[in-house]
Amino acid sequence: MAGRGGVILAAGLGTRMRSRLPKVLHTVGGRPMVARAADALLRSGAVEGLVVVAAPDQAPLIRELLGEAAEVVPQEKPLGTGHALLAAEEALRSYDELLLVYGDMPLLRPEDMALFLQAVMQSDEGGPRPAAALLSFVAPSPQGYARVLRDGRGNLRRLVEEAEASADEKAISEVNAGVYWFRTPSLWPALHRVKPSPQKGEYYLTDVFADLVQGGHRAVVVVAPDHRSFIGVNDRRALSQAETWCRERTLERLMDAGVTVEDPQNTYVEEGVEVGPDTVLRPGTFLEKGTVIGSGCVIGPGAHIIASRIGDRCFIRHSTVEESQVGDGVQIGPYSHLRPGCVLEAGVEVGNFAELKKTYVGAGTKIHHHSYLGDAHLGPRVNIGAGVITVNYDGFRKYTTEIGEGAFIGCNVNLLAPRVIGKGAIVGAGSTITDDVPEDSLGIARERQVTKPGWAARWRRARKERRE
Ligand code: UD1
Ligand code: CA
Repeated sequence: MAGRGGVILAAGLGTRMRSRLPKVLHTVGGRPMVARAADALLRSGAVEGLVVVAAPDQAPLIRELLGEAAEVVPQEKPLGTGHALLAAEEALRSYDELLLVYGDMPLLRPEDMALFLQAVMQSDEGGPRPAAALLSFVAPSPQGYARVLRDGRGNLRRLVEEAEASADEKAISEVNAGVYWFRTPSLWPALHRVKPSPQKGEYYLTDVFADLVQGGHRAVVVVAPDHRSFIGVNDRRALSQAETWCRERTLERLMDAGVTVEDPQNTYVEEGVEVGPDTVLRPGTFLEKGTVIGSGCVIGPGAHIIASRIGDRCFIRHSTVEESQVGDGVQIGPYSHLRPGCVLEAGVEVGNFAELKKTYVGAGTKIHHHSYLGDAHLGPRVNIGAGVITVNYDGFRKYTTEIGEGAFIGCNVNLLAPRVIGKGAIVGAGSTITDDVPEDSLGIARERQVTKPGWAARWRRARKERRE
């Protein structure tokens, strides 16, 4: 026997969620809770393998989610957490030590696991070797957690589950987080001795602590400083609390790295998003996975950025940017939409109801006011007038439009793709362009104007006479 195994208990009914989806598959920060708990254990580097206990009908889903990372074993009936761990006894037989957490703990981090283990190992010094350890925290509202009962000298006596606790015991605010370390030679016999609880008839894992202590073993309690990591999600209220804390943590990370967040309650940044120092995140901003933002930007109000790279010193407000790349000093919005596949070079300006799709925009090009550019390639310093449309779709296929460096496209122009507008060309306002426009040429395609002097006055007079 050697090494330390990781275990996650993820069976159980999860009835308090009132959901058809298994509890541990509900997501926090966009990732299922059980996968987040698995990440915490595996990334802590503290375990050599991972076993997840799942309900038989959920085991295939969880297996698919975790892939190679874990062995999933079924617990045939949800008879309690002690019973669940016994279901994994066979799979964990080779380990000398276990690190165990519950599958409904979505905010666990690798560093929480590492710190816990470090504290357990340090408690080794001097006294007899502990047989088990648990993590506790002082809960602002302890409801739903087991309370930690200590003896006169502060040593652990036992844990009492809420359902089994007296009024006095319920008044204790130190609770059991659901993070444990065990030495297996003493754990397995103790676990087999656990009896169903008087009130609920469940086999409580937590009852092994009283057994071990009574048997003369040492059980260590490590008190956690920050309780947010250890929330156990049993119902939708706790789920929303976990989501809030998850967001809070991400924003704290950004603020510590020099980002200004004007209104954290109204700023939604997914984990893994990177933002450079001195960037300001204004209210109503959503930054989704895969997004990297440079420094010195002002993002928001009302910016929604998805899987995009944004350079330094950009301004993006009231706009959506999806799967695109934006260079330094770019201004986007208000009210624009970059759909997937856009590349904007430095100093580009896109604003006021512009939509771009799969479009490359050269440095310094300006696209203001009501434009649609799709499947287009624009050179540097192009000017796109109000209401310019690339007509890129004929109902069957998409076609490309190319606009050369320094070209000037007048207002209200349709460019029928496939089309090439040469460098330095000018396209007259109101044109529907059906032929390419060569370099430095003028392309104009519209009716000549007819002006009839005095016509309007005569017309009005005639109308008036008819009415009289
Ligand atoms: C559990 C602990 C409690 C602790 C709290 C921390 C027990 C008896 N109680 O209470 O001391 O303070 O977590 O959040 O352990 N599960 C199974 N099989 C079962 C029952 C549960 O695998 O038969 C799994 C669940 O999927 C869940 C985890 O074990 O992920 C904990 O079960 P849950 O019912 O949520 O326990 P709590 O009442 O929260
Ligand atoms: Ca729970």
